[in-house]
Amino acid sequence: MILSMTPLLNKHSDTPIYDQLYRYIRENIENGKLPSGGKLPAIRPLAQHLNVSKNTVEAAYGQLLAEGYVESRERGGYVIQPIEQLWNLTGRDIPESMRHSFSSIQPSSEADRLEHHIPLPYEFRYGDIAFDRFPQEVWKSCLTQAISDAVETAPYGILGYGDRLGHIGLREELAHYVYQARGAAVDANQIFVCAGTQYAVSLLVQLLRLREGVFAMEEPGYHGVKTVLRGMDCRVAPIPVESDGIDVSALGRTDASIVYVTPSHQFPLGMVMSVEKRLRLLKWASANDALILEDDYDSEFRYGSRPVPSLKALDTDDRVIYMGTLSKAFLPGARLSYVIMPRRLVPLMKERLANYSGSVSPMIQQAVWLFMKQGHYGRHIRRMRRIYQARYRALTESIAEIMGNRAEIVGDKSGMHILLRVAGRESSELIRLAESAGCMIFSAAKHWDESNTDALEFVILGFGGMDEAALREGVRRLGEAWFPA
Ligand SMILES: Cc1ncc(COP(=O)(O)O)c(C=O)c1O
Repeated sequence: MILSMTPLLNKHSDTPIYDQLYRYIRENIENGKLPSGGKLPAIRPLAQHLNVSKNTVEAAYGQLLAEGYVESRERGGYVIQPIEQLWNLTGRDIPESMRHSFSSIQPSSEADRLEHHIPLPYEFRYGDIAFDRFPQEVWKSCLTQAISDAVETAPYGILGYGDRLGHIGLREELAHYVYQARGAAVDANQIFVCAGTQYAVSLLVQLLRLREGVFAMEEPGYHGVKTVLRGMDCRVAPIPVESDGIDVSALGRTDASIVYVTPSHQFPLGMVMSVEKRLRLLKWASANDALILEDDYDSEFRYGSRPVPSLKALDTDDRVIYMGTLSKAFLPGARLSYVIMPRRLVPLMKERLANYSGSVSPMIQQAVWLFMKQGHYGRHIRRMRRIYQARYRALTESIAEIMGNRAEIVGDKSGMHILLRVAGRESSELIRLAESAGCMIFSAAKHWDESNTDALEFVILGFGGMDEAALREGVRRLGEAWFPA
């Protein structure tokens, strides 16, 4: 129960007091300050607190009730309804007041949009996984087991800081997994565990003193990594990408000492780097005494094509630093990723990491280790691959059906996002229209250099977190909003 509230009510305004109160509560439900499931304050005490009549509060509540923002329960008071239920998910139409608030949202920065937005019924967020299909019970039992291991046996010092390179059992499981799934034969002692890809890159910049050289990077390329490199004042050389991955000839014209690539699913454009290009890239690294930073973030999810071995698997000259993450294949909330170093850099890594603490909770590492050791990880990935394939298909088929050749899907059949381009329309317009139809989609521009106007054409649609019915309905609404009959 929300005990009370203190809106600023202006008795001299032309807007009646009950209307002011109604608007205040509505706005606070829409922006999430009054969360769903909560109860509005009881009428009499609120009227006393605000020094207004009971009728005034009743009138405001009556309006909220009529519009579906609250539900009246016998003896249970007025219960705030989930935002999604206010519109079409339950067959009701979008209330007029909310229609207005969707279209009045001004997309400012992406981060602002995400943090302060009114939840929309169809959010094509990149980064969401199929939380609805996550094996909660198994994970819960691994977490419980990890906690009792910590208390009862503490075999890996999991109540303390833990191994600074990461839980040795977990690193062994990861080495085994990378060999099976990605073809790279590596040892656990080449691996260190850390709290996500950005953290991994910043550690690498420090450990390998990468600020002293030039850091080449795909253009367009993953904004998360660009942000870190810029933040650390690295000298970044943007390298264009071709239909089969990074332009190795352009890379050869720089004096880069390291290049960051996403070969299994270029981010954000989505192409797979050909084997021929992988070999050329490895040759470039050998010839220039350089390193390759391979970000293999979502290679588990391919829909139809055969797996291409990772660069690390083809790396006969020990040039590749491999980065894997559990954010796509398992759970972003685990905040767990890992780096596999070239063998010759292991002594340096150990020496330089000796003064750093680990960044991932030893208890989470223990739970993930149990999850892997008990065979759940492989099963989970196989299951999720089927789920994402069905989602990918639902999304792309409905786009083709509804939008035909007016929209172009960019990217190979894999991962958990697509790029979409609508000829002659800018992403800002597409995003605004989408919002007015209850759909949240995102600009891909931040992954391009600011000077590149190509960036303005693309929108990015993540599909991992939406089931097939939601994807189809979302696309239907996008079609209506973008191409009205
Ligand atoms: C290209 C790329 N690399 C890595 C990641 C994963 O990052 P993290 O391990 O920090 O969750 C993502 C996720 O959004 C990504 O798009």
